[in-house]
Amino acid sequence: MSEPLKKPAILISEETLEARIAELGAQITSDYEGREIVAICILKGSFIFFSDVLRKIDLPIHTEFLAVSSYGDKKVSSGEVKVTLDINEPLENKHVILFEDIVDTGLTLAYLQSNLKARRPASLKTCSLLVKPESLRMEVAVDYVGFKIGPAFVVGYGLDYAGKYRGLPYIGNLDGEADADH
Ligand code: IMP
Ligand code: MG
Repeated sequence: MSEPLKKPAILISEETLEARIAELGAQITSDYEGREIVAICILKGSFIFFSDVLRKIDLPIHTEFLAVSSYGDKKVSSGEVKVTLDINEPLENKHVILFEDIVDTGLTLAYLQSNLKARRPASLKTCSLLVKPESLRMEVAVDYVGFKIGPAFVVGYGLDYAGKYRGLPYIGNLDGEADADH
């Protein structure tokens, strides 16, 4: 029998997530008024955030999915980024928004932004549910931020640890509690 899963402490509740995601959706809707957007979900971690925020954006949206390699079973960044599933649609002259679950060191996002900019979109912005400002190792533009959190490893609402906890309805902390603000 496998070990029972530890129940993570609540860092950001379902209600708080829902309220902030509605705000993000409203902000994007007003910023992109009159335009069509290409919304790219960065798999796997962003899939729940993506599906929730998309339903709060009142614009014509073309959805795409892009997967990058993760850290495997580790909690620290390897610094290596590999696209494991690419999008087939051309992005040239499109208004593109990348949806990320979390920006930690910034390595993944920096790689993705330069990779996608090379495809000559009309504009490219990034929306990340979570950002860990103290963990950033490079300057990276995050245009829409859900919550700024401390450096502790978090799980739930799409985010995993070793493939587990993605289905948790809140953002939890495996090692105790921390603060969140935005
Ligand atoms: P970065 O390249 O270090 O910014 O890391 C980005 C990716 O690492 C995210 O898209 C997540 O998949 C993963 N990651 C970073 N921090 C966490 C965390 O606290 N919990 C779960 N996944 C994380
Ligand atoms: Mg991710």
